[in-house]
Amino acid sequence: MRVDFNVPLKDGVVTDDTRVRAAIPTIKYLKEHNAGIVLMSHLGRPKGDGPEPELSLKPAADKLAELTGYDVKFVDDTYGDKAAAAVAEVKPGDILVLENVRFLKAEKKNDPEVAKKLASYGDIFVLDAFGTAHRAQGSVVGPAAYIPAVAGFLLEKEVDTLTSIFAEPERPFVAIVGGSKVSSKIGVLDHLIDSADTLIIGGGMAYTFFLAKGYTVGTSLKEEDWVERAGEMLKKAEAKGVKILLPVDNVVAKEFKDEPGTVVASDAIPDDCMGMDIGPETEKLYAEAIAGAKTVFWNGPCGVFEFENYQHGTKAVAEAVAEVKANGGTSIIGGGDSVAAINKFGLADKMSWISTGGGASMELVEGKALPGVEALLDA
Ligand code: 3PG
Repeated sequence: MRVDFNVPLKDGVVTDDTRVRAAIPTIKYLKEHNAGIVLMSHLGRPKGDGPEPELSLKPAADKLAELTGYDVKFVDDTYGDKAAAAVAEVKPGDILVLENVRFLKAEKKNDPEVAKKLASYGDIFVLDAFGTAHRAQGSVVGPAAYIPAVAGFLLEKEVDTLTSIFAEPERPFVAIVGGSKVSSKIGVLDHLIDSADTLIIGGGMAYTFFLAKGYTVGTSLKEEDWVERAGEMLKKAEAKGVKILLPVDNVVAKEFKDEPGTVVASDAIPDDCMGMDIGPETEKLYAEAIAGAKTVFWNGPCGVFEFENYQHGTKAVAEAVAEVKANGGTSIIGGGDSVAAINKFGLADKMSWISTGGGASMELVEGKALPGVEALLDA
């Protein structure tokens, strides 16, 4: 079973166990059905020239044991005789975690030898690593070519939930996209315009949209090369009857520092100032739009939420999104920075679904096929 145990570590201890928790339902199901379970994952981005102790999966294996109370064995080998011997010892109901699959370069290249080796460890391949399903790497896509392969519960739920916003979302469907760059989310924005009723823009990317509208943006983050594309998107939305909401006011500052800023209208950003957050009028406007939604998708913060002085806008949006589920709607959070923001504000349990995948959830929302899922479909 390929899981995504790519978790943050500090001094050899898992500091955020979300991804380990997310894999438990499938592990529990398999154990309760007497399967012997061999778990594999990557952690970080090792060079691939051999073991890197600080990127060992042992802390993740220990965390799984702690969270489940199961006896979880770990072997500090992935492709060698030691791993094969440990796998041979696995009996029905046992759980064995292999060492980081990326300690070998061939994994990343999806070398057939890697795929064959990993497939030889089991009778059935379960892919539950949603966060890595966008990587065409050996342990993700490989085994499905050699043994029967199925999706785990997490992968299934992630794909179903994130694609549901394009199938038949309950309307009104409001999408909120923030973050610094238009360029990195162009596919996401484009695809959401095809499905959403309202698209709310926040964060640094708003300033590129301002340029497209003919505003000046001072020293704010901007991508001059993407202004034309941003303008095309505004036109596409208008033609489709999709409402695009951009900030009407902003908190700006002369320097990128955690010190109080000044509120200015979007068409009056001083030449020597940069936008740091959405302003109070924008917060109201966005909260009202979100309050009317039956489905909300959110990815990306609305300001520099890491700074105390500029977290207000992102917090206001997070609080508005949190109300959607309470009012009977559905709130879906794409992985990445917005998840960090929701956790920071203590609102995680108020959301309908928080994706465990950063890059993977964005590729899915862009409308791209995920190689991991494709491999299962081809199997
Ligand atoms: C992630 O954290 O997004 C996944 O685990 C994939 O990791 P990668 O970007 O190193 O492939």
